[in-house]
Amino acid sequence: MRWRGGVLEVVDQRRLPARRVIRRCRRVEEVAEAIETLQVRGAPAIGIAAAYGVVLGVRPELGRRMHGHVAFRRQLDAAIARLGRTRPTAVNLRWALDRMRRVVTAHPGGGVRRWRQRLLAEARAIHAEDRRRCAAIGAAGAALLTSGDTVMTHCNTGGLATGGLGTAFAVFATAHAQRKHIHVIACEARPVWQGARLTMWELQQYGIPATLICDTAAASLMARRPIAAVIVGADRIAANGDTANKIGTYGLALLARAHRIPFYVAAPTSTIDLATPSGAAIPIEERPPAEVTRPYGLPIAPRSAHALNPAFDVTPRALISGIITEHGVLKPPYAEKLRRLKANPPHLAPLLPPREERLSEVGVVG
Ligand code: MRU
Repeated sequence: MRWRGGVLEVVDQRRLPARRVIRRCRRVEEVAEAIETLQVRGAPAIGIAAAYGVVLGVRPELGRRMHGHVAFRRQLDAAIARLGRTRPTAVNLRWALDRMRRVVTAHPGGGVRRWRQRLLAEARAIHAEDRRRCAAIGAAGAALLTSGDTVMTHCNTGGLATGGLGTAFAVFATAHAQRKHIHVIACEARPVWQGARLTMWELQQYGIPATLICDTAAASLMARRPIAAVIVGADRIAANGDTANKIGTYGLALLARAHRIPFYVAAPTSTIDLATPSGAAIPIEERPPAEVTRPYGLPIAPRSAHALNPAFDVTPRALISGIITEHGVLKPPYAEKLRRLKANPPHLAPLLPPREERLSEVGVVG
């Protein structure tokens, strides 16, 4: 994702890995549509795109008109409302939009042009901070792995889904950069195949040894092969530690428990939502049934087949061995630790190791 010349450029993730198509968003509606249709996806990336979308939603020429600030506030509210309706589960969206709104509410006396400059600076800051968070998550999580480990993951959590190296993916990339000789087993993540299409592609970009499996093969593999850990991302971590992530994650966590395999969630603190007390209160996005019955336009079920398509599920905190954040690995019980982390986040080192920074570039643009 890149902001260039007043335009938000995103890689259209629906087309990967077959084609690398860059989509240029010039209006807030285009950003909203890109998020809804999964051109941009992954919790942190959704938040970053939405932040730039807010900038596109306010027009600088209003500054020359009378009552420009009233119109500006109206446009800001409309942009935030439109972007806020795109996807309900990833809390990074609301987190980023709240930050964007505060830029204006914290400086009520600013002129329209100045507000827009501040909005762009905030969007860039959200983007840059995520990059640093990813690097720190990678370092914290890689310390959990030892040389020769095989790890399992679900959905896509790499550079495509974030502003940097990724979340769970950053753990793999960092361990690989440390020459730990890890092997990643990626679940395909039906019905949109983020694992098969995107994670396998990113793993190849980094040269990380990897094997793709059908979601349904996970149990059998856990029974037959030594798996050191399951590491996944998150779309929202409730105040008590319950975690929403791509549909199928809950099943993997149950399987991991049954096979005594540690199950880790890797996420930045922007994914922690203290306003949601437990997983029961996390809104779960229902996507079009056609993604199940006609994936990529191919009819695989009878025409009138009824289908359900919940995009996420909730893994209860009791199944989570640890939460890998940019500030280290939290162990259960989570509630008090999550509260303290959000209330008083430790300082995050500003420097990325040069090698990781290069890797992160590769992850973003392939
Ligand atoms: O529907 P998606 O593809 O946006 O879902 C993405 C996931 O579930 C990821 O695992 C999650 O956002 C973590 S991304 C670093």
